This record gives sequence, C-alpha cells and structure tokens, in this order.
Amino acid sequence: MTPETLPDGIAILDFGGQYCHLIARRVREMNVYSEILPSDATRAELESFGSVMNVKGVIFSGSPSSVKAEDALILDPNILEMGVPVLGLCYGIQLIAEMHGGELAKAREYGMTKAYIDEPVGVLEGLDACEQVWMSHGDTVFEAPEGFRVMAHTDRAPVAAMRHDEKQIWGLQWHPEVVHTERGGEMLRNYVFNVCGCEPNWRPLDRVEEAIRTIKDAVGDGKAIIALSGGVDSSVAAALAGKALEGNLMAVHVDHGLMREKEPAEVEAAFKDRGLNLVVVDARGRFLRRLEGVVDPEEKRKIIGEEFIRVFEEEARRFGVEYLIQGTIYPDRIESGLTRNSETIKTHHNVGGLPLQMMFKEVIDPLGDLYKDEVRGLGERLGLPEEIVWRQPFPGPGLAVRIIGPITEAKLEALRKADAIVCAEVEAHPFRDRLWQYFAVMTNTKTTGVKGDERAYGWTIAVRLVESVDAMTASFSKAPWEVLERISNRIGNEVPGVTKVVYDITHKPPSTIEWE
Ligand code: XMP
Repeated sequence: MTPETLPDGIAILDFGGQYCHLIARRVREMNVYSEILPSDATRAELESFGSVMNVKGVIFSGSPSSVKAEDALILDPNILEMGVPVLGLCYGIQLIAEMHGGELAKAREYGMTKAYIDEPVGVLEGLDACEQVWMSHGDTVFEAPEGFRVMAHTDRAPVAAMRHDEKQIWGLQWHPEVVHTERGGEMLRNYVFNVCGCEPNWRPLDRVEEAIRTIKDAVGDGKAIIALSGGVDSSVAAALAGKALEGNLMAVHVDHGLMREKEPAEVEAAFKDRGLNLVVVDARGRFLRRLEGVVDPEEKRKIIGEEFIRVFEEEARRFGVEYLIQGTIYPDRIESGLTRNSETIKTHHNVGGLPLQMMFKEVIDPLGDLYKDEVRGLGERLGLPEEIVWRQPFPGPGLAVRIIGPITEAKLEALRKADAIVCAEVEAHPFRDRLWQYFAVMTNTKTTGVKGDERAYGWTIAVRLVESVDAMTASFSKAPWEVLERISNRIGNEVPGVTKVVYDITHKPPSTIEWE
C-alpha cells in the first residue's frame, strides 16, 4: 500500500490501564484505525508503522502503577518530538508532567467527578464550563510544568487537563473512553479529527471470514472440540468453528449443575440439529462434590476450570481431538490480567484458570480480540437465532459465582427459582432492552422475616440489573419500581426459605457485575 491508500491511525501505548483497549475501540468506532503497542515502544518503532497506517497521533494510556514508583514505566522521550499530537490519559498526563518537571503528589480521586473547564479549546473544544468526568487515580498533578497551560480543574485536582503552549502535547487526568465521562466521545473526536487531523478512512475487515480463516489455518485437517455453554460467545464460536471444520468439530455441553433453570435442555434443543456433533455430559455430581464447602470465589473458579478440562479431556480422548476452541472474548482476557502490565481482577474460568496446555496441541480463541457487541454482530451475520444472539451473558462458572459462601443444593434450588422470576419479570417489560444482564444472587446472609403469622429466618436474595455496552463498565439500572416490586413479591411468595429481597445499586467500577 502507498501512504495515500493507508488508513490514518492513532497508536496507543499500553501502560497497563484497565481501559487501554477501550480507547482503541473508541477510536476504531470513528472509522479511524488504531493499534495498541507496549509502553516501551520507541519512536523508531512508531515510525515504522508507516507500512500499516499513517500514524497521526499517539495516546498514552492509564496504568495501575505510579509515576513515582521506582520501577515506573517510562516513555521514549523522542516520541514527544515526533511531530504528531500526543495525548496522555490518567497515568499519561502524570507521565508528561513528571517528564517536564511538573509537581505531583499522592492524592486520590475516584468516581464521577465535576470537571471545571477553564479553556475549552482543542481536545476540550465545545464543552461546557462544567462536565461530568470519570476519575480513577492515586497521584495528582498539582502544578503544571513550565510551558504548559491548565485547561481544566476539579475540586481536588488543580491540573485535571493541560496542554503545551506551543507543542501538540495534551493531557487529561480523567478517562474520556468510559461511558461515565458523559461527553468523553466528543473529547476523543476532538483529538482524533480536529487536533490530529485524521480522515475517517478505515473500514473493519470482514470478521466472519477472518475468524473462519484463523480456525482453518490452526486446525488444518485435525479435529477440534468446543465447549458450548449456550451463551452468546460460545454459540458464535461454535457456529464459526462448525463452518470452518464441518464434520471435524465436536461440541460438548457440560452440565456442571450450576446452570440456570431448564438451561441444559434448552441448549440441547437449540443446537442438536446444527451439525456440531453435540454431546451433553451430565457432570453435576462431580462438580458439586469438588465444590463442597469452598468459599473463596477464585478457588471456586479454579476448581470449575480444572474439572471442566478433565471432562473435556475425557471427551476429547474418546474422539481423538487435538484442538480446543474457546469463546473467550476480549474483556475476559483483559480482566484476567493476560495483557502485559494489567492487573488481575478475576480469573475467568475459561482463560487463566485452566491448565490448558496439558493435552491439546493448541487452544484457539477466534473471538479473542472482540467485544461482546461485535460478537453479537457476528452472530447475526452467521444467521444465529435472535434468542441466542441477544441472550444475556452468563459466566462460565455459572451460579457458583452467584452463591456467596459454600454452595449447597438448597441454595442452588432457591437461587434457580429466584433467578427464573427475575428473568420472567424483566423479559415481560420493554425496559429489558436497556439491560446488559439481569439476575438473582444468593447472598450468604440470613435475616428475620414473617411468613404467615410466624417468624421465619431465611436467605437474602439480591437482584442485580445492569446496563452496559461491553461489560468493562456498567451502571445499575434505574428499573421501574413496579417491576422491582413484582420481583420482590414473587420471590417472597414463591421461593421457600427466602425472607428478604434487596436491590444492588452499585455501578462497575467500583463493583463488578457479578458478585464474586
Ligand atoms: P464482572 O463480574 O467481572 O463481569 O464485572 C464481566 C462480565 O464477565 C462475566 N463473568 C465471567 N464470565 N467466566 C466467564 O466466562 C467467569 O469467571 C466470569 N466472571 C464474570 C460477567 O457475567 C459479565 O458479563
């Protein structure tokens, strides 16, 4: 390709922040190419990107660490002289300040914050005097370095945004890439189009073809096995693998006893005639035995991951399978800390928790770079039924991470009933379309209630209804009161052993979507 036919693009240096990939994604959504590079990428490396894209700007991401730490990640200073506009976000602005002699100190700011815009120019052009932004940082820039101007402040951060007087160096302390920063999209658009001058001339590749090719190249004439939970991700991965491998794919649905009401039967009905050689394995007893008395969520995930792989091994051996295909998607990988510099929040059972190398020649993640909405788009292109494509996500370890404390048959049974009520009531109401996930949680708390005229001492069920675009951030839903009331009444009346129903009103962050 000649430079004229190359797409304009933004390089993102990954300092390990949770939202690094969200930044890339926001840029790509504007039809501008973006690539993520490790934080130690040099100016020369960025310039050699000239064969892939015209690098029109460089963004420095956030980071879990401090610029003041001894082993702080640093930046090739020559990048600042490359002649393209740079934008530091969170750790990025602190790094710029530190490199230019600004004043920083430990001072935490967290959550939704009011930012007062002192200079609405460049990246902040068109913004109001006060904007809602999302903050998550432990260090704060207290004085801008010489040659820089303060563009915004908050009640706690005197330098919440800054720019260089002459050079194209910009910094924001907040995260414009997360939805809680209300006009974050405009800020990034200002940077990409007005400051960097990008043309929106990038079109994503056909993901279906790309994914099928990936699977075919990896498996060749071999045989592969896929874990089909019935969720969106594994269903789409199975449909892709089915197309790529035809008769050489075996789909295994493991009933680990931690599924929702009627789920294994529904999965079997939906997939049995789709040419995937579907096998349903009843492994309820062995999973529940191993989980007996286990309280720690990471331990639960680990046990489930291990048991899963054992079941697979047994099936794979019977069919002489060498490859494992998974429906792991991008946020699972980030949150499992598998990208360089990022911190582990949860080990998702189908990623880090599995001793995968043991028996398969290779593990293939055809959806490993995609976000949930992209996976859904792919499912639609593949012609999967709507109920599957738009099914709410369900974690691999299933109800195990929605039962706090030890898992028992009695808790499982009550949770299944309560969850079915939540689903039925939500699905009967149009506000369901706003929700990303809706489910019940069995807390480990017993409370006193009255049933009939008698004192009862029973479980507390929590209801979690969240809105989200990609599970990286989420908001609790301001659900209609009448729906919450019906859910509460029905659970109280229909689920034995439950005396209290509570509604979870925490956003992610600081919470996660699941309770464990
Ligand atoms: P959290 O709870 O981390 O969840 O906000 C983000 C998304 O991931 C799902 N989730 C899991 N999926 N194995 C999975 O396959 C897991 O261990 C797991 N934990 C959470 C969760 O339902 C949400 O959609």
